[in-house]
Amino acid sequence: MKIAVVGSGYVGLVTGACFAELGNDVICVDIDEDKISKLNNNTIPIYEPGLEESVVRNKEKGRLKFTTELKKAIKESEIIFICVGTPPKPNGEADLSYVENVARTIAEVMDSYKVIVEKSTVPVETGEKVAKSIRAYNIHKADFDVVSNPEFLREGSAVSDFMNPDRIVIGTESEKARQIMEKLYKPLKAPIIFTDIKSAEIIKHASNSFLATKISFINATANICESAGADVEKVADGIGMDKRIGRAFLNAGIGYGGSCFPKDVDAFVKIAEKLGYDFKLLKSVKEINDEQRKNFVKKIEKSLWIVKNKTIGVLGLAFKPNTDDMRLAPSTYIIAELQKEGAKIKAYDPKAMDKAKEIMEDVTYCSNPYEAAKDADALVIVTEWEEFKELDLKRIKSLMKHPLIIDGRNIYNPEGIKKEGFAYISIGRKDVM
Ligand code: UGA
Repeated sequence: MKIAVVGSGYVGLVTGACFAELGNDVICVDIDEDKISKLNNNTIPIYEPGLEESVVRNKEKGRLKFTTELKKAIKESEIIFICVGTPPKPNGEADLSYVENVARTIAEVMDSYKVIVEKSTVPVETGEKVAKSIRAYNIHKADFDVVSNPEFLREGSAVSDFMNPDRIVIGTESEKARQIMEKLYKPLKAPIIFTDIKSAEIIKHASNSFLATKISFINATANICESAGADVEKVADGIGMDKRIGRAFLNAGIGYGGSCFPKDVDAFVKIAEKLGYDFKLLKSVKEINDEQRKNFVKKIEKSLWIVKNKTIGVLGLAFKPNTDDMRLAPSTYIIAELQKEGAKIKAYDPKAMDKAKEIMEDVTYCSNPYEAAKDADALVIVTEWEEFKELDLKRIKSLMKHPLIIDGRNIYNPEGIKKEGFAYISIGRKDVM
């Protein structure tokens, strides 16, 4: 099938590469000339496991192309995926101007039937507005259908999530579009749920908001565990074994970050407000999330007593492992707060240091975890990269000024780390001194 993917950001790139992998002819479009020229030279702007290989392979096979020529891509394709950004406005609402722009261009150019698919995360009723805008600018009076096909890809495992989805959501009111979309996704052999457009749009915001709610729930429970002297990991295992609840997304820590959950929770609160509902639950989810990182900084301050002039080694900067994404990463808040108190920060991340350097100054960036630990008064775990779980702790201890680990992701077993001679403070578990 002939597909255009408009917007070559994280979602667009993965979507384009994976549809090409499934044998389709895909043209990825972006207005950023530098990005397109890099992609044409096999330079992938983001780190995402498996993506580079897939882009290179499909380009070589001639199934994947990159261009800035939106109009040409629209003309040549039957299915057009809108994957442009929907950044938050200062009031938390999504900015839909990029989506509207693409919709208008499609309308002005198309001269044959097109399926126009919104994949960007958009508020409910956007599909209706996209269709209305296309009807208004449809110069050639071409036939078209709008589909909502939200994505559920996680950064760090996006390619494998695309290829092995739990479900595919297709919202459309048209039988013709439904059949085309079904054929497109058939090779994945995954369950498909067909809905109306509005329900599909709400499924996206409700899914992310529900996952964020699980995280805030377990973080709130972690605070109770700390006061009571219980262990949140055991509590999460105990409740997670109930099939109705599930263990996933019950990892207590320093709260959720990234470009999706914070934005989508805010957006869903706004959508509800516009529709006349006060989504108090989600407001609390956000509040608990904000408090969680503040509490973590307090833990560091309390355990060091005086932060001024202390050296703090930070392991992990990306908002989660297996990505170089620094957007709304808890590390940025935590480091800034410690710097305000006069701490000297040494940091290491396996993939995110280039992006971190663009936004965080006065940090000594280290080439490995041991360098970050050298002469540190405390070592702080911010992102749970696998390599941090396998550190040579004897070596770490010998390098540090003071053997103190403050773990925002509960990656170590408190008893094991005590035996290694560390003071250890984690989330929702007893401190080890
Ligand atoms: C999230 C969703 O999981 C995807 O399904 C969705 O497609 C995507 O947003 C999106 O809307 O584009 P992502 O933000 O890449 O994916 O990452 P997650 O793995 O969901 O993690 C989000 C945040 O929650 C991270 O900061 C992570 O550290 C935190 N988290 C996650 C926890 O604190 N505890 C957990 O148990 C799980």
